[in-house]
Amino acid sequence: MSSRDQARLIAAALQARENAVAPYSKFQVGAALLTSDGKIISGANVESASYGLTCCAERVALFKALTEGQNNFKAVAVVAALPKGPTPCGACRQLLAEYAPEALVWIADARRPKVVREFTVRELLPEAFSL
Ligand code: THU
Repeated sequence: MSSRDQARLIAAALQARENAVAPYSKFQVGAALLTSDGKIISGANVESASYGLTCCAERVALFKALTEGQNNFKAVAVVAALPKGPTPCGACRQLLAEYAPEALVWIADARRPKVVREFTVRELLPEAFSL
């Protein structure tokens, strides 16, 4: 994967983060998926007054992509204003393991988007549940 792909995907995640709907936590997260044919699908977190209904940026992006017929992912970028960037929560790791097992996970602090940490999905969730 090229550093250009990485810069492009981080930029898309930063852009998506602008549309986060986070009136309760005020914590805005953006995510973007890169498909094997070079498309980018992004999303941001959406919160509910019934807090538990909140959906993370990663899952919003993944559900958008899957329901647009995309199911082959090379990478996912996730950004938020957090010193080392936002590593995905456990629920999102499970879904990434199921639907984007080969994707690289690129994490960055939205304030320092050129500093990117890279993980594999398997590193983030070894022994993921599967049927
Ligand atoms: N959140 C994400 O969107 N992705 C993560 O990886 C962790 C947390 C959101 C959920 C909630 O809207 C806010 O961040 C605070 O937890």
